[in-house]
This record gives sequence, structure tokens and C-alpha cells, in this order.
Amino acid sequence: GKEGYPHFMLKEIHEQPRALRETWAGLDMDYVSKLGKAIAEARRVFITASGTSYHAGLILDYLLVSLAGLDAHAFNSSEYRKYIKLVKEGDILIAISQSGETIDTLMATRVFRERGAKVLAVSNVVDSTIPRESDYQLYTNAGPEIGVAATKTFTTQLMILTALAANAALHSGGMGKEAYSLVLNELEQAPDLVNTTIINVEARVRHIAGKLAVKTNAYYLSRGIGLPIAMEGALKMKEVAYVHAEAYPAGESKHGPIALVNQEFPVVFTVTDDDYLDPLEGNVMEMTARGAYTIGILPSRHYAKLGKVFTEVIQTPDASPYLLTIIQSIPLQLLAYHTAVLRGYDPDKPRNLAKTVTVE
Ligand code: F6R
Repeated sequence: GKEGYPHFMLKEIHEQPRALRETWAGLDMDYVSKLGKAIAEARRVFITASGTSYHAGLILDYLLVSLAGLDAHAFNSSEYRKYIKLVKEGDILIAISQSGETIDTLMATRVFRERGAKVLAVSNVVDSTIPRESDYQLYTNAGPEIGVAATKTFTTQLMILTALAANAALHSGGMGKEAYSLVLNELEQAPDLVNTTIINVEARVRHIAGKLAVKTNAYYLSRGIGLPIAMEGALKMKEVAYVHAEAYPAGESKHGPIALVNQEFPVVFTVTDDDYLDPLEGNVMEMTARGAYTIGILPSRHYAKLGKVFTEVIQTPDASPYLLTIIQSIPLQLLAYHTAVLRGYDPDKPRNLAKTVTVE
């Protein structure tokens, strides 16, 4: 049941501290280490998934390339045919699917295995089809997800994939032992920090949802590791609130998308990567100059520098970018949820969508 919550989506958003705690407890670090070594030694690493799971895949891709220095490439599983000739023995495919049943991801799994790649499945459903047809399996322990929009399965995927990437980086030499331990310690704190985030952002998010509820468009912009989180925020907004939302690298906004921005146009920024603060601030100013309604999701340590440049700020607890991906997902999920409810839609049953897509 919904345990007193009006919708499964809200219940599942609030369940994330528990889902993360149980995922962490269920993670066999010796096995993760074995997989991290295999990834570091692979000829090439492919990552495939659809929808929300694809956004988790983009985070993994970002970390394997930039942290571990590996030749990794993420793609939407429906586009697997492009890579058929490239796949060889010695390659690894990481197939991410909450349900373990998404047909496109299953097809990619089959084709890559036939061509000699090893496949690691990351799923929330033990013994579902994709894990059964794979060489290795890692499971999130989020519990069944009833709402059509993926929430707790996404943040638990991020937890597992970040631990995996850090491990691969340890084996590849991209990361030292001390830095690795810091990442793991942070991930262990995810349940508590997510709990704090849910409590802290709720009122602010409701206020902003009130503004978004009367809009037809929104942009979600970021730089670096924050970009897949912005993409996921835009997907949530589209699918449950039916507000047309698009995500771009903030630097790309100048190359076309900004033409659409006028007075009160909503632009959500996720501020995640410390390396990009100055250019990101420049992008916010460009939007402000056109009268945009800008919303900054930022960790408290950046409040002094960036607190005043946005129309609205959603402050989250401080953490490194590895954990901020998980933390910043929370206000974005809640923003989509509350906007949907204020617009009079049932977020548990988005039109035209099925929980599991079994047709190509
Ligand atoms: C979005 C959503 C979908 C799924 C996608 C993949 O909220 O739920 O985009 O993420 O259909 O599903 P899985 O992870 O089961 O392969």
C-alpha cells in the first residue's frame, strides 16, 4: 500500500534513505573489487540502458573516463546496432535495467555476448531476464518500485555504479587508496544525507513547483558530472508533469537553445562540479539578462558565491560530486512530483507510459 502517502511516487521518493541503506548493506565489496579489476583490464567498456537507467549509465561513463581514465562509452540501448562491428572479445558491456526486462537492453546484451564481450547486469530484480543472460550481476536493493517514474531505483543505481567506478579507478591507478576510501565513506553516508535533503528542500520545492505548474517549457542546465542529473530532472518533469523540459550542457545553451528564453522562462541549474563554477555562473547571467526565472540547486558550500545569482535557490547538504549526484536528484524528483500534482495529474500513471517496455 501507499502507507499514508497520496501517491507511490512520493512514497518511493521518501523511501530512498532506506533503499540506499539496504543497497549498501547488500553490496559485496569483494565482488565489486573483482568487477572493478575486470573493468580496469577490459579492452573497452560499453554501457547500455534506457531512460532513467541510461542517465545512471552516463554517470558511470563520466566516472570511468574522467576518474579511472578508461575507454568507456555509454549509449541508449535502442541504438546498439551502431556498435556491432566494434565489439570484440576482451570488451565489457555494463547493462543497466531496473526491471531487468527492457527489450532494447536485452537485445544489446545478447548481441554483445554473441560477439565475445562479457556482460555485467545491474538490476533491481533478482533473476530477471537481463541478469540471467549476463556473466556478472550486481543488484540494487531498492525494493519493488510501483510508480511508473523511476526514483529510488535511480539513486540506488548511482550508489552502486559510483562504488564500481571508484573501484575500477583504484585498479587502473586513476585514484589512490586514500581518495578511494573517502568516496566509499561518503557513499555510506548517502542515506542520512538524502534524509536531511528531503526534509530541508520540501518547502522550497513546493513554492517553485507552484511557479512551474503554469509553464509549458523549462531548461535544465549543468556542466560536468551534474549534466546526467539535469537530464534525469528534465525527464521526470516531462513524464509526470507534462511540462516540456530539455537538458543541455550549460555551455551548449548559447549555441541555439537560448533563442527560446524570454521573460520568466524557467531554467534549472544543477551545480555539482567545483571545476566549472565560473563558466556556469556566466551561463546563469546570460539567462538572467533575458529575464529568465532561474533556479539553482547548489550545495551549501557554494551559497556564498552563487546564492545571489539565481532567482530561486534550493540548498542541499555539502558533499563531493560523487555524492551530490544522488543528493541533487532528490529536489528534482520532488519538483516534478509537486508540479504534476498542482497541474492536476496523477504522477503514478503517466499517460502513454508502461513501467516495463517489452516492445522494440
Ligand atoms: C523513467 C523510467 C523509464 C525507465 C526505462 C528503463 O522514469 O522509468 O525511462 O527508466 O524504461 O527501464 P529499466 O531500468 O527497467 O530498463
